[in-house]
Amino acid sequence: MPDRILLTGGTGFFGRRIAEVLRERGHTVATPGRPDFNLMDPDSTLRTLEQVKPDTIVHSAAHYGGLGICVAEPVQIFQRNVIMGVNLLDAAAKVGAKKFLTIGSACAYAGAVNGDMKESDFWSGPLHPSVESYGFTKKVMEVGMRAYQRGCGMMGQMPIVTNLYGEHDVFGEYRSHVAAALIKKFADAVIEKKKQVVCWGTGAPVREFIYSGDAAEGVARLLESGYTDPLNLGTGIGTTIKELSEIVARLTHFDGEIVWDTTKPDGVMRKVLDVSKMESVLNWKPPTSLEAGLAKTIKWYMANKAEADARS
Ligand SMILES: NC(=O)c1ccc[n+]([C@@H]2O[C@H](COP(=O)([O-])OP(=O)(O)OC[C@H]3O[C@@H](n4cnc5c(N)ncnc54)[C@H](OP(=O)(O)O)[C@@H]3O)[C@@H](O)[C@H]2O)c1
Repeated sequence: MPDRILLTGGTGFFGRRIAEVLRERGHTVATPGRPDFNLMDPDSTLRTLEQVKPDTIVHSAAHYGGLGICVAEPVQIFQRNVIMGVNLLDAAAKVGAKKFLTIGSACAYAGAVNGDMKESDFWSGPLHPSVESYGFTKKVMEVGMRAYQRGCGMMGQMPIVTNLYGEHDVFGEYRSHVAAALIKKFADAVIEKKKQVVCWGTGAPVREFIYSGDAAEGVARLLESGYTDPLNLGTGIGTTIKELSEIVARLTHFDGEIVWDTTKPDGVMRKVLDVSKMESVLNWKPPTSLEAGLAKTIKWYMANKAEADARS
């Protein structure tokens, strides 16, 4: 049965894809945004929920980004994400919402996990210090959703999402993640006719990437499944940063040299989700290959470069 959904963060990179996919699947989706709907303000949050009267909340709003902002703003990231989540949980319970789905993140996993990250590892070990203040807020939301599930009967769900890329991503240096950052770096090098692009580290670390349109479909399938334990959402495919750089270089038509600045840190050597549970619970695998998803992203970025570069 279609849900009456209030989606937070509907103006954001991932939120706009989630809204599209949920609407395509027949759900009614309200995407209120700032300034009227400010999740930092409990009154504004409750007022909006009383107007929309959702039976389901999908919480995609966040204050965060790649390593740059995570290192520079640990206080704002921790404080804002916890306050926004708590305000929203409380307002959702007050208006009698039945379901609450929070977008989780693989950054909530321990910094050092042996092998691919399974849902059973979710509470094992300390987070990597660089993303601790962000990643831990996802754990806070998991505990919060369970509390409201026990106390008010509001069902909680959390997809643990791996690195996203796609159209409308953040490409500016301060907030971008690695795929978007590399796309901008190589595209700029081509425009500026540079013969060399310098990338951080050795290129050896292995990361996982999912196209935002596929991840949005995974979120919709989870919402419709009724499954309530945290569930990994990714491709399960590891790609080295060197391989990623080479694909981006080729797709942006950069024909110069890629130089690795090995004085810069590599970070964790491997971060890949185990997606076996996702495949069985959702009966689904993300269909878009990394190469095809990056090609779509680069096409969009080149057609909207000025607007994309201006988004901070
Ligand atoms: N990108 C990834 O690789 C990735 C990976 C795993 C998980 N995630 C998760 O995916 C979710 C969406 O991320 P994203 O990349 O789409 O982020 P984004 O592009 O930065 O969008 C963030 C959204 O949150 C809204 N927001 C921020 N503060 C708000 C406030 N006080 N009140 C109301 N709305 C507020 C923003 O609204 P404005 O337009 O007003 O700023 C924007 O719509 C987040 O929960 C993130 O943790 C992302």
